[in-house]
Amino acid sequence: MAIYDAIGLGYRHLRRPDPRLAARIEAALGPGTVCNVGAGTGSYEPSDREVVAVEPSAVMRSQRPAGSAPVVDAVAEALPFADGAFDAALAVLTVHHWVDRAAGLGELARVSRRQVVFTFDPAAHLDFWLVRDYFPEIAQLPGSAPPSADDIAASLGGGRVDPFPVPADCVDGFLWAYWAWPAAYLDPGVRGAISALAQLEASVVARGAAALEADLASGRWLDRNGHLLAEPAVDGGFRLVVAGG
Ligand SMILES: C[S@@+](CC[C@H](N)C(=O)[O-])C[C@H]1O[C@@H](n2cnc3c(N)ncnc32)[C@H](O)[C@@H]1O
Repeated sequence: MAIYDAIGLGYRHLRRPDPRLAARIEAALGPGTVCNVGAGTGSYEPSDREVVAVEPSAVMRSQRPAGSAPVVDAVAEALPFADGAFDAALAVLTVHHWVDRAAGLGELARVSRRQVVFTFDPAAHLDFWLVRDYFPEIAQLPGSAPPSADDIAASLGGGRVDPFPVPADCVDGFLWAYWAWPAAYLDPGVRGAISALAQLEASVVARGAAALEADLASGRWLDRNGHLLAEPAVDGGFRLVVAGG
């Protein structure tokens, strides 16, 4: 959470819910009450039913829009709710930040009948031109090694794992969002809303950004990655895990 107190400013504008992912999450949640854990500014929270958000970063909580669901200052590892208090628990791009992932997943299962977790499989996630050619240091960050989606499903007592290929026009500015728009990563604001880039040392970021800028100018980026531009969506390792009843 300390990371988000440091980097969270501006998150709300660059990390807007992508409608295609929102539809998948909405369908997976089903009807009933929802506890949104690691809720951030409220992306992907349903607005048509009772929702309680859990978010440990004050900076993130302060950016929740007026009228959004009530938010509790707590961590996934110790949810302040009774057993079975919710029909569903939601956790979007947050498990990799948890200090004790097993405890947090246990808590999701304890407080809800159904769990919906949007996460990434590290191997496919790190197999990205941005990491490989410009910021390989990302692979060493603690948040780059979450459990696999299959392991998360198993921790939750078994469930479905569905891939979410990242659309070329993804509007939720996470690490892979601009895979087809490489110049976006030259923007410090864009980088600031991506925790993996925001955690790197300034000198590492400056070196990677300069190399990317040079490769875009020389055509080297296009030579290496131009084949991707024909794809409507690519596999960035993102997975939707749906567990429980
Ligand atoms: C990438 S943001 C995702 C926010 C939101 N779910 C979204 O999709 O926009 C990760 C969030 O997890 C929160 N977080 C970090 N550690 C946490 C923990 N132990 N328990 C719950 N949330 C945590 C951060 O403060 C941050 O808001």
